[in-house]
Amino acid sequence: MRLDDVIGLRKFEKDAWEALEKTIIYYQGRPVGTVAAYDLSQEALNYDQCFIRDFVSAAIIFLIEGRTNIVRNFLEETLKLQPKEKQLDAYKPAQGLIPASFKVMTHSNGEEYLKADFGEHAIARVTPVDSCLWWIILLRAYVVATKDYSLAYKPEFQNGIKLIMDLCLANRFDMYPTLLVPDGACMIDRRMGIYGHPLEIQALFYSALRGARELLICGGNEDIVAAIDSRLPLLGAHIRKHYWIDINRLNAIYRFEGEEYGETAVNQFNIYVDSLPYYELDKWLPKKGGYLAGNVGPSQLDVRFFCLGNLMAIMSELTTEEQSQAIMTLIEERWDDLVGDMPMKICFPALENEEYRLITGCDPKNIPWSYHNGGNWPVLLWMLAAAAVKTNRISLAERAIEIAQSRLQEDEWPEYYDGKKGRLIGRKARLYQTWSITGFLLAKELIKNPSYLPLVSFEPFSAEQASRACEFEIDGFDS
Ligand code: GLC
Repeated sequence: MRLDDVIGLRKFEKDAWEALEKTIIYYQGRPVGTVAAYDLSQEALNYDQCFIRDFVSAAIIFLIEGRTNIVRNFLEETLKLQPKEKQLDAYKPAQGLIPASFKVMTHSNGEEYLKADFGEHAIARVTPVDSCLWWIILLRAYVVATKDYSLAYKPEFQNGIKLIMDLCLANRFDMYPTLLVPDGACMIDRRMGIYGHPLEIQALFYSALRGARELLICGGNEDIVAAIDSRLPLLGAHIRKHYWIDINRLNAIYRFEGEEYGETAVNQFNIYVDSLPYYELDKWLPKKGGYLAGNVGPSQLDVRFFCLGNLMAIMSELTTEEQSQAIMTLIEERWDDLVGDMPMKICFPALENEEYRLITGCDPKNIPWSYHNGGNWPVLLWMLAAAAVKTNRISLAERAIEIAQSRLQEDEWPEYYDGKKGRLIGRKARLYQTWSITGFLLAKELIKNPSYLPLVSFEPFSAEQASRACEFEIDGFDS
């Protein structure tokens, strides 16, 4: 590398750090989070709030930098916003929920307070199911980084985790180990045909269960621990089997019989082959590649590739080692489609024509190859980097970082890009979007120092090991 390039690169990273600094929110004098975007050129709407999901990559960066206090403050303050009592008013957020976002407000007497949004103010009133899952994942990252269990062992934190587990593990109408959620319950927070059992929520659910299992004190929580231990293997097996798509699986599905009744049914979800674009998939699937489908339900197999769910599945060992490698192979072999000119596509392919009209409800922000409907989101770069370190495919992440590096700062850190290859700055994209900055910085840190991976990844699950860890942690716990 030439000296000019090295200097240019340092300046680039310095600028990114400076941009991040400006996004920090202070509450009663303490840093508690980051705004979604520091873009003074547009009306803020709710981008001046701290979103739980958006803060995660910033938080990991802060943990790496040793600025653990901001993460701790964030965890403490968001925990206070969680409703602790059973709610009788159905329009009020449910017990255990963590908000989508919050904002610092000031009373008339000058005192500050935090105002949370549980979706009751959000466009289309979407439910942030992912927030409580991310909250546990982040708490666990905090513990991994600081090696300090005392925060997680505080009674209010134990209670917070318990309430989230109660909400997730409650008896429901369906009999799948997956979580049933409405449309737009996660990063894709608009109508995109992802109601039911979308992969993103399932991958986060799996990670949150793993995190909760590590953090819950076993004594007194025997019921929840037993529920987690029984759910994790079932959820894992369900996703690995029913969501997996590769050429062999496509062959099997292509020859499925329909209308099978009873225990011996092979086509358990009664998938009708003609609902799948099997000729396109036949062309698109590389010999050794594969991925987890976007959604599985009654006569439904959503074969769109959703990036976050697939990458989080690798990080949490929700996929088998073979499947994780196959996902990375798919990304490598279909680079132009999935990475293109800006890592990386939120989902592929886009919904077009009649499908776009019916499934998105004619959403002008989600026109084909834009925003959630096949746009490219720089924040996803850190997950690609983490999955690449996990699977030892680092060169893929390096390539992606180089692509992002060539544009992101010049383009002023857009929220997303449009177009089949992600060459256009998103039509409605915010600039100085915080998670575009932190996604890039975190990806660089993970590649520079792979020993940070355990902050965001898990080893294969074993209930026995988890229990041993639990005993050990309690012995070492200093209350
Ligand atoms: C958009 C994104 C959502 C994000 C929010 C703030 O609504 O879809 O995932 O949390 O912006 O950046």
